[in-house]
Amino acid sequence: MSARRWGPIRSLLFLSPVLLGAPYLALQQHYALPEPLTDLVNPQTNLPQISEARILGFAKYLSEDIGYRTVGTLEHALADAWMVKQAEEVKRNCEEVVAATGRKLECEVWRQEGSGSHRFDMMNKRLYKTYVNLTNIVVRISDGTDEGKEHAVLVNAHLDSTLPSPGAADDAISVGVMLDCMRVLVNTPEWSPKHAIVFLFNHAEESLQDGSHLFSTQHPIAPTVRAIINLEAAGTTGREILFQATSEEMIEAYSHVPRPFGTVFANDIFSSGIILSDTDFRQFEQYLNVTGLDMAIVGNSYLYHMRKDLVENIQAGVAQNMAENTLELLRYLSSPGSAIPTLTTYKRPTTVFFSYLGYFFIYSFTTAKILYTVLLLASITLVGFTYVKPAAALRNGRGVWRAQVKGVAAIVAGTVGSFVVPNVVALIMRYGLGKGMSWFASEYSAIALYGPASLLGALLSQVLIGPVHEHTAFTALLLLQVGAAFAVQMINIGSAALFFLSGFPLFLVLLINPLFTGSVNEISLVTYALAQALPLFSGVLLMVPVIEVFVPLTGRIGADAPADNLIATIVSAIGTLALPLAVPFAHRFGPRALKHGVVWTSMITVVVMAVFSMRVPFDDMHQKRVFILHSENVTSHEHHLHIAAADGAPGFELLASEIVNQFAPAANGSAVSLELEIMDDYNSDWDPLYPFSAFLTPYKVPLAVDPGYVSPWIAPENKFSISALNDVKDFAAGTRSLTLEIRHPGLIWTVIAFDAHVLKWTLDDNPPDEYARHHVKEASFYGKDTWTIDMTLKIGPGGDGGGALLVNFIGLQEKGMWPGKKAVKEQGGVAMKLFEELDRWVEEKSGGTVDALLMGCVAGVTSV
Ligand SMILES: *[C@@H]1O[C@H](CO)[C@@H](O)[C@H](O)[C@H]1NC(C)=O
Ligand SMILES: *[C@@H]1O[C@H](CO)[C@@H](O)[C@H](O)[C@H]1NC(C)=O
Ligand SMILES: *[C@@H]1O[C@H](CO)[C@@H](O)[C@H](O)[C@H]1NC(C)=O
Ligand SMILES: *[C@@H]1O[C@H](CO)[C@@H](O)[C@H](O)[C@H]1NC(C)=O
Ligand SMILES: [Zn+2]
Repeated sequence: MSARRWGPIRSLLFLSPVLLGAPYLALQQHYALPEPLTDLVNPQTNLPQISEARILGFAKYLSEDIGYRTVGTLEHALADAWMVKQAEEVKRNCEEVVAATGRKLECEVWRQEGSGSHRFDMMNKRLYKTYVNLTNIVVRISDGTDEGKEHAVLVNAHLDSTLPSPGAADDAISVGVMLDCMRVLVNTPEWSPKHAIVFLFNHAEESLQDGSHLFSTQHPIAPTVRAIINLEAAGTTGREILFQATSEEMIEAYSHVPRPFGTVFANDIFSSGIILSDTDFRQFEQYLNVTGLDMAIVGNSYLYHMRKDLVENIQAGVAQNMAENTLELLRYLSSPGSAIPTLTTYKRPTTVFFSYLGYFFIYSFTTAKILYTVLLLASITLVGFTYVKPAAALRNGRGVWRAQVKGVAAIVAGTVGSFVVPNVVALIMRYGLGKGMSWFASEYSAIALYGPASLLGALLSQVLIGPVHEHTAFTALLLLQVGAAFAVQMINIGSAALFFLSGFPLFLVLLINPLFTGSVNEISLVTYALAQALPLFSGVLLMVPVIEVFVPLTGRIGADAPADNLIATIVSAIGTLALPLAVPFAHRFGPRALKHGVVWTSMITVVVMAVFSMRVPFDDMHQKRVFILHSENVTSHEHHLHIAAADGAPGFELLASEIVNQFAPAANGSAVSLELEIMDDYNSDWDPLYPFSAFLTPYKVPLAVDPGYVSPWIAPENKFSISALNDVKDFAAGTRSLTLEIRHPGLIWTVIAFDAHVLKWTLDDNPPDEYARHHVKEASFYGKDTWTIDMTLKIGPGGDGGGALLVNFIGLQEKGMWPGKKAVKEQGGVAMKLFEELDRWVEEKSGGTVDALLMGCVAGVTSV
């Protein structure tokens, strides 16, 4: 019984193996990646194996030898040609294998080319996409029979990269993974797919999912697809995570992969929409109505859509892991026992799933409800039976459940406290000290800033609540955890498993606690150690990926987003789950010790805040995203420099004004004072990034134009123009029908915006039945410089000037993007000249802590 009398320090020392060991083991599990392999064939078995070296070779070729594969650029067209060659090589390999072995194997190749349009709402904005002559490269591997081709599984990756990024991880690595899976399958002796596999090398994802739309709506074999596997990346390290799984059959298939990493929790978070992200999965769901798995590399998401998304920054083992998992899925789903032919219809899963302790658990919501109900009832029984009335004097009137009420109040207060104090710290750091996002450059440092504050909140709340019997706090915690598991599962949220994983060990340990103490009224330190181990382990397993995703995300969700409070809330929420026993423990040593605890955690919190207020948010591998446009207005002939950021870290205004004073100084030599531009649907300057532009804090200043400047964008053969063809106004009917033609030689990603009451158009079947602002974005193949919309507008005497349509238009110079087009900078005109200097200057000035996206735009407004 001596342990009972140990003070807090000795007790914590006793618990330290668990407090340090559980996180250690969790981190080991989180970071486990396979050995990257180079050999194409396993030297022992002589069977083909996944080769990371080969995959990264493809990724390097695409991201460095070809480069920035932005839709519409020359590089994008080069990647298309390269991919066709790779696909044809696979086909040749296939034919050789068949000739040599007579296996039932057929590889077919398509280069799909087509045009189309789709509505693509995003961030609560209505948006339309059109595209001209975009391509996909498709390979189907089947057993060559009609039955074998009737039902197929599709695996998708995109070849293109986004505006400012070479896209090695996003998504060239997945292209390499698919190529290597094809090699291994085709060269595996005896292998023949019972059901076909369609490999879709989709060539326009970043332009808002045009490639997957094109495949889903126009490819002849699209109707045979029963399930899809989407391979994506928003980071460069770690195991790829499963974050969307839309049927039980596909979750079951996923359980066969060598290293599953996916939880119902990630699924719930993603489907809540809070990540503001979207993948080709959306097109397959919408236009093919099929189920599937959506997976992505998400670790180190700082490099997502940045210049440094390069092979050298991809962690070793990432590609090996992704490819081995994908290969197993394809083998399984193409095999005779596969669920693929049954997936002509599918049901949304009502399944709890998670990978834990080396196992992949799947159970139905029904099982979960029964399990959690039983646990709740058992816990109530246990609490009722193990309750020992306190000393005789206190006995009258204080029954077991009244004590539990007080215990529950203590736990709830502890939870509230552990949320409130970190959020106060966040507010002080951001608004009081002007040191917001001080944790940005290192994800986990956010835990150091908000963790002690969270503990302080928990302890402080217990001082306010007053003494609670330790055992009562313990049992109340159990009741709350299992109650939460029960209640959350009852409303069909599978993430209830988190409370179950925490509550179940509490229950077991409380059951055997008397063995350690000899009394049911006391809690042994051994009980703490046992009860805390699993929640801490699973808490860390949860905290790490959530922090890995959300901290870098705060660098791109806009200055108005409460980034500091978001991260403080995440740390305290998961921290509370990970250390549930903090509150009972706080009552173990009496009120004096509790107050000491408050003093200590306060001091630690203050010291940590002081340390963090000396940190800078960004460094050279965790850069600030700065968006810079050079725009030429072909209507007013003015040139402007636009500078914007997408985060709320301090210091941007200063950087912007330094850039302006350096590159766009006032003619009279005085310092230029900057004013934020209004960002709304009428700000056409940033339409190339619409609707993400809503996240930007933009500055705009005029640039001096050389008197000898001759604009290339108004020369007749090169003119950026909007015109109305087949224009028929029917004033009697109050309608105008026209074909709006946009010509944009040398420009890509054009956007038009206008106000009109559209009655009918070729973009979709149901334009809003009112006068409204419309945004239409285009992306087309290299050299395709005309697109059109047919539409019928409502015109009237009032409102729109006898049917005239005022159209704002803007496009990006195909040769005006830095650094993607460095190699042809001479052809980039005034914009590229500016960018070369500006980029060097920013790099030096910021010490490499800024990644600037630099684009030359041509814009104007015209009435048609
Ligand atoms: C390219 O697009 C145009 C316009 O949509 C279409 O008329 C033409 O047939 C397309 N070419 C190919 C090869 O798809
Ligand atoms: C999509 O598929 C599900 C079942 O597989 C079916 O219930 C639903 O009606 C389909 N939706 C459409 C629009 O075809
Ligand atoms: C271009 O100039 C015209 C005329 O001054 C103006 O109305 C329009 O808003 C400008 N467009 C952009 C994108 O700056
Ligand atoms: C210099 O020019 C700017 C506009 O370019 C003006 O706002 C400012 O007042 C001028 N300063 C002086 C000292 O004339
Ligand atoms: Zn991507």
